Amino acid sequence: MLIDNHNRKIDYLRLAVTDRCNLRCNYCMPAEGINFADSKDLLSIDELFRLSKVLVGQGIRKIRITGGEPFMRKDLMQLLRRLKTLDELEEISITTNASLIEKHIPELKALGITRINLSLDAIEEPTFNKISRREQFATVYQNLLKLIQEGFDVKVNFIVLDNQNIQDIIPIIERLTKHYQVSVRFLEEMPFNGGSRSFQKIKWNHSKIYEYIASHYGDISKLESEKTSTSVNYRIKGYKGSFGIIPSFTRNFCGSCNRLRVTATGDVITCLYATASKNLRDILRNSPEDRPVENEILAAISNRAKNGFEAEERSTDIYSNSMTSIGG
Ligand code: GTP
Ligand code: SF4
Repeated sequence: MLIDNHNRKIDYLRLAVTDRCNLRCNYCMPAEGINFADSKDLLSIDELFRLSKVLVGQGIRKIRITGGEPFMRKDLMQLLRRLKTLDELEEISITTNASLIEKHIPELKALGITRINLSLDAIEEPTFNKISRREQFATVYQNLLKLIQEGFDVKVNFIVLDNQNIQDIIPIIERLTKHYQVSVRFLEEMPFNGGSRSFQKIKWNHSKIYEYIASHYGDISKLESEKTSTSVNYRIKGYKGSFGIIPSFTRNFCGSCNRLRVTATGDVITCLYATASKNLRDILRNSPEDRPVENEILAAISNRAKNGFEAEERSTDIYSNSMTSIGG
């Protein structure tokens, strides 16, 4: 079992499989993109699988595949098929922008990979195009409806951006949660955007987001959530789905943090706000033994910051990072 230096059980791996993305969301990276990693520096499918197997052996029970956009990686399904063979792994889930997922839906369903978190920061096409700097709204929306119809457990992640998508908050609740069993989660913006902006405060924090939504609806009840949940969840009376709020910038859920992150190039990140503590790529490439990899993981989790604020204090230059390389 993996227990960190603050006595938290680490059983959730967020595994980024690429830092590339086909969108250019303005809160994530500059219009021209970032310096994407060379393909030779990305972990191969064999390496990603081997590392996952080692980590499952150490106690990881849930793997969320992230990116970049995970489906930019043409060989992603090979990894998913292999991860399914790990008996002790209880859950494989994916965070995606859903623009490239359509042809994979039948196989994902057959593999039992049904928990899909979909990044969608708008419900009106012009808002989507402006934020993502690409014109993919129709495809994404169609794929979202298809996933819901096919019975996937879908959570939509909507980052609340001042002056950009506030007008879409109520419409997205109406269009999606009224009739579909889907959760729409509103996220505080975070200061990682590939180098050009860092901030110490946000206007749209979790309380303001909640107040804004509550001022539109009379009857909202709080739902029970798992202890390790990033979101506080609510249901509007009579609505099929639910909505949630993720205080990703306020960071008030660190006490129950069960996460470890590995980037597509093999960096181990023990907190979203921390700089990488170690790179595993060369160790994976140079050592046929798993022990050195296990030892690096143990060393990393024995020196975790208590929370995202301590991690931020200890870090150097994290805000030049882009969400597309951290994996969210
Ligand atoms: P579930 O597995 O469904 O609980 O999803 P999740 O919330 O763990 O994963 P998801 O990829 O949907 O995360 C959505 C967003 O939540 C991320 O982009 C971050 O903004 C935020 N988030 C996720 N994990 C963390 C975390 O460990 N710390 C902080 N501060 N924010 C996080
Ligand atoms: Fe965990 Fe860091 Fe996120 Fe807090 S900010 S929940 S410690 S990863």
